[in-house]
Amino acid sequence: MKQDTLVLIVGAGPAGLATSACLNLESIPNIVLEKEDCCASLWKKRAYDRLKLHLAKEYCELPNMPFPPGTPTFVPKHDFIQYLDDYISHYNVAPLHHRRVESASFDGKWTVVAKNMLLDRSEEYVTTFLVVATGENGEGFVPWIRGLDSFSGDVMHSSDYRNGKKYVDRNVLVVGSGNSGMELALDLWNWGAHASIVARSPVHILSEKMVQVGMVLLKYVPLNVVDNIVVMLSKLKYGNLSNYGIQRPDKGPFYLKMATGRSPVIDVGTVEKIRSRDIMVFPSIERVDGNHVHFADGSTKTFESMVFATGYKCTVSKWLKDGGAKFGENGMPELRSPHHWKGRKGIYFAGFSRSGVFGISKDAKAIANDINNALLNMKI
Ligand SMILES: Cc1cc2nc3c(=O)[nH]c(=O)nc-3n(C[C@H](O)[C@H](O)[C@H](O)COP(=O)(O)OP(=O)(O)OC[C@H]3O[C@@H](n4cnc5c(N)ncnc54)[C@H](O)[C@@H]3O)c2cc1C
Ligand SMILES: *[C@@H]1O[C@H](CO)[C@@H](O)[C@H](O)[C@H]1NC(C)=O
Repeated sequence: MKQDTLVLIVGAGPAGLATSACLNLESIPNIVLEKEDCCASLWKKRAYDRLKLHLAKEYCELPNMPFPPGTPTFVPKHDFIQYLDDYISHYNVAPLHHRRVESASFDGKWTVVAKNMLLDRSEEYVTTFLVVATGENGEGFVPWIRGLDSFSGDVMHSSDYRNGKKYVDRNVLVVGSGNSGMELALDLWNWGAHASIVARSPVHILSEKMVQVGMVLLKYVPLNVVDNIVVMLSKLKYGNLSNYGIQRPDKGPFYLKMATGRSPVIDVGTVEKIRSRDIMVFPSIERVDGNHVHFADGSTKTFESMVFATGYKCTVSKWLKDGGAKFGENGMPELRSPHHWKGRKGIYFAGFSRSGVFGISKDAKAIANDINNALLNMKI
């Protein structure tokens, strides 16, 4: 089977859906390929139950569709999924499911090969414009740790974690102190598990309100001033947590987000449990030996389970051969702002600006606009 199209979008997460919707508004034909049996598979299949969007809803809208009235400021997972499903029907986005893209190469046009998982056969698509929208969170990343394969308990990645039901009374080590790790540790505690956290590097801990204040201030005040204010607020609320194993970075939270993509932790109640020592924090793991985990400070503790909240790896470079862009060691396309969404040879990247749904919305509009302009120029 071989099919010609003008625009091919790979991935039906928020980025692919938004790009397709923006193209539909301009009546530009496009095809969306998605490997799973549904859209927004990250949200429907790989996110824990209690997840809410970390940013206030006004920063998490897709183009041309506000959240319905009455939506909570911090949108719960299920409401966000409903919003995405409504978005799809409103803009007639029709992804082809069960299509896993396995290669894309350029020879005047892009030839994209996808495996139809239902029929177990290859399909070929030839397209002028190729939009990569497979996400920054392609697959769970678990770091190499000495002796991890000798661990006698069970190990999972945070993307497979739904809730703590099966962990009652168990000692669980959550590796990673970003937003997922901190929230999972609290969830485990709520389910009656004994949760500990590994905090390898310093993190900023902020409340939802502090982030909101910071986002508003950023419109009027320089970044370093905003950082100083927000850090001061964090110090007032949370104090010095270094005795509990949590260090604050030297650089400010908004600066770090911009420069490295690393988000501050938005506290959902974990800090209180850390202060009461219900949740213990350990430094990096030195090695694992059976059910013993040895930490960098010389301490050892036994665990029955480990959950790795150690982030994700982007998988684009696995199938995108003739890139039109370079890829960094974490698999992310290395594109430069302000045109980070545009590669060479008619290729585009939606959703790789490390700024969540907010960035996705901007990318989708910019890409649809750019393709529209390219088409207008071609016709002259
Ligand atoms: C736990 C968690 C919490 C988050 N919370 C927030 C938040 O609060 N606010 C925020 O703005 N962002 C948040 N994010 C970031 C979030 O990933 C993005 O906002 C958003 O889901 C990314 O959309 P995307 O379309 O770029 O990627 P994804 O949602 O990952 O969608 C990519 C799609 O591409 C498909 N795909 C991948 N490879 C292929 C292939 N080879 N062939 C075909 N299809 C393929 C996947 O199945 C998937 O459906 C969170 C992420 C995680 C993991
Ligand atoms: C925090 O507390 C630790 C240990 O008591 C101390 O060494 C450190 O200087 C304190 N940091 C700040 C910023 O006050």
